[in-house]
Amino acid sequence: MNTRIEKLRGIIEEKGLDAILSYKPENRRYISGFTGSTGYALITKDQAIFITDFRYIGQAKIECPGFTIIENSKLKTITDILKETPIKRLGIEEDFVTYGQYQEFIEKLEGMTFVALDAAITKLRAVKTPEEVEMIAKAASIADEAFSHILTVVKPGISEDEIALELEYFMKKKGASKNSFDPIVASGERSCLPHGRATDKLIEKGDMLTLDFGCMYKGYCSDMTRSFVVGEATEKQKAIYYAVLEAQEKALAAVKPGLTGIQLDTIARDIIKDKGYGEYFGHGLGHGVGLEIHELPHVNAIGDIEMVPGHVITIEPGIYLPGFGGVRIEDLVVVTDAGYRVLSKSTKELIELK
Ligand code: GLY
Ligand code: MN
Repeated sequence: MNTRIEKLRGIIEEKGLDAILSYKPENRRYISGFTGSTGYALITKDQAIFITDFRYIGQAKIECPGFTIIENSKLKTITDILKETPIKRLGIEEDFVTYGQYQEFIEKLEGMTFVALDAAITKLRAVKTPEEVEMIAKAASIADEAFSHILTVVKPGISEDEIALELEYFMKKKGASKNSFDPIVASGERSCLPHGRATDKLIEKGDMLTLDFGCMYKGYCSDMTRSFVVGEATEKQKAIYYAVLEAQEKALAAVKPGLTGIQLDTIARDIIKDKGYGEYFGHGLGHGVGLEIHELPHVNAIGDIEMVPGHVITIEPGIYLPGFGGVRIEDLVVVTDAGYRVLSKSTKELIELK
């Protein structure tokens, strides 16, 4: 029996539900294995049902062993199907069900009560199995290879867009299905934009270049950031680079079961504050990574979940000086019994591409 379904039945029990309806794509895939774009996993106390339309029936039969497959359509909607069940209390994904869908449920499913799952499936997903960790590690190693490759491509005169395209092409050739998000390629002054997506700006000598990218491998994401200088680094570029590096390495070294995201965030933030750059580190230290690029556990000021073995998180402090540029260094790590294992292997020495 699919142990994930057993865990969902645990949630059903705990919350006094009759069933759970999941259609947030990452949760749905986690529960059922379904990789298509439309479908509903309906888990009851004794049944696992997958509801999808004509386009995906064959795929669901292959990808969702152990599920009874039911076809829906414009004429027989998920609401019509639910109406035929004896479900009284249905757990739904409050962070995914649209207002319109909810209104339809309320209007047409008289007598059924809808209960917010309170991210219960997302919380399950936060703790990875060794097999899931290996998928993320593979996605991270493809990104590492792409970083080594891109260092041979970057030079003055090439555009940020070309760098982003080359990263994507390279990672797909190495087995990735796609980018895990649109790569951030921010050069020169633009590197002060924490999420500066690639533009047609050309790289100039002396630019600090921040690359934040990752790929998906069998549904799992990787995420890494490196900043480096195209040419010789100035004293100011070095000062912010080494401040970020120290914060990154100290926070990373502290990762272990029992610590919260808040505590990790504070370690990095205090170092950056002490160096006088506190106001220029305006985002959280990191986030969980898995089927989604940003998932639990939070590694920031609201991260009150204690780390446990199997959590996969990023550690990514940065300093962004308006009108000058910025630096971010990000590693992907898995929490282990002994502490942590770093999945991003690319060097963090300051690279001066000459
Ligand atoms: N690497 C992109 C992000 O963490 O938001
Ligand atoms: Mn990240």
